[in-house]
Amino acid sequence: MDYFSYKNQSLHAEDIDVKALAAQYGTPLYVYSRATLERHWHAFNDALGDHPHLICYAVKANSNIGVLSVLAKLGSGFDIVSGGELARVIEAGGDMSKVVFSGVGKTPEEIEFALQQGIHCFNVESEPELERINAVAGKLGKKAPISLRINPDVDAKTHPYISTGLKANKFGIARERAVEVYSLAASLEHLNVVGMDCHIGSQLTETGPFVDALDRLLELVDELSAKGIEISHLDVGGGLGVTYKDETPPHPKEYAKAIAAKMAGREHLTLIMEPGRAIAANAGIMLTKVEFVKEGEDKSFAIVDAAMNDLIRPSLYSAWMSIIPVDENPAHKPHVYDVVGPICETGDFIGKDRELAIAPGDLLAVRSAGAYGFVMASNYNTRCRPAELLVDKSDVHVVRERENLKDLWKGEHKVT
Ligand code: LLP
Repeated sequence: MDYFSYKNQSLHAEDIDVKALAAQYGTPLYVYSRATLERHWHAFNDALGDHPHLICYAVKANSNIGVLSVLAKLGSGFDIVSGGELARVIEAGGDMSKVVFSGVGKTPEEIEFALQQGIHCFNVESEPELERINAVAGKLGKKAPISLRINPDVDAKTHPYISTGLKANKFGIARERAVEVYSLAASLEHLNVVGMDCHIGSQLTETGPFVDALDRLLELVDELSAKGIEISHLDVGGGLGVTYKDETPPHPKEYAKAIAAKMAGREHLTLIMEPGRAIAANAGIMLTKVEFVKEGEDKSFAIVDAAMNDLIRPSLYSAWMSIIPVDENPAHKPHVYDVVGPICETGDFIGKDRELAIAPGDLLAVRSAGAYGFVMASNYNTRCRPAELLVDKSDVHVVRERENLKDLWKGEHKVT
């Protein structure tokens, strides 16, 4: 459930008519709803009930500092994948003791930065990374808390580009090698082995693969325990899907309950989750304006002012994202359009074969754009990235100003 709805046939974000936002701040424009972000975060947090747990929002899904600050105020933890994301969490007021650091290629500088901040844990993906963290921690006279990302080899049944738990992926440590790598970690002087983690993919629409992965991890926890290696937390990653079209993913509550049920009797193991999309996607829309309507030979095109540089999911993953009119009842006749941007690439589209009743000047909203939307935007074709707003009931916060041309060539120099 989210807080974008039609009131008097006009789309609203919480209590605000989005037409007024477009008029004041221009388009393309990202609009987020605070109530929706909070509701989704609570759905996870509440469902885990009394079991010791930590929700570490995956910053990569939407790293705007306004968004992070809303979650930080709820007491959220954060899953980061770079020193840059860590700096954002600091800026947003996040609690460092609730940060987990994922990713396959952490640099010595990033490791040092995170150690100095006193993060909760490094989610380690390989033996060379263990050695690197051990060396940096030794240099600083610290002990680094680590978890090993185990590849449970389950099929997440999602898009191959966002499936990460299979043997063929670059991520994690193979289940068969896990005990050996844990023994190595336990033997390194400047490491403190505290956890186990996994992440099997994104936009999963069934609970089954998550539960299968957890079963495999719990078996490994017991095997390690028998060898005297005790861990204190289990991190099941993120990946819960959302409805873009007709997918029917489990509700976060249902998903979290299924996971918590498997943890019964293991109260000494804190459960960590890293949801990104399920918290942010439906908490955001992208507004765009129809510039022209063009009748082609075989197709009609609605040429809008947003492009693949603003929202790349349709072009990159052939992702279907819902496109709706901001005014529900315009006088125009419905017609089928490809909704395309102004970029010079055939792959520049936001949606194909959409029935819309529109005319130039009308506003459209792309739904579920709060996750992997603005964060994946670029300046391709020397286009300024959109502004981002966060609506809180009838208040509007500009959480990122629209870029201007000077921003785009900052740091570039002419050659004389
Ligand atoms: N934890 C780890 C280690 C991850 O790699 C990811 C996402 C997450 C958590 C959060 O997953 P989520 O709950 O958001 O599914 N750009 C793609 C999605 C890439 C996801 C990468 N990893 C898209 O637009 O669909």
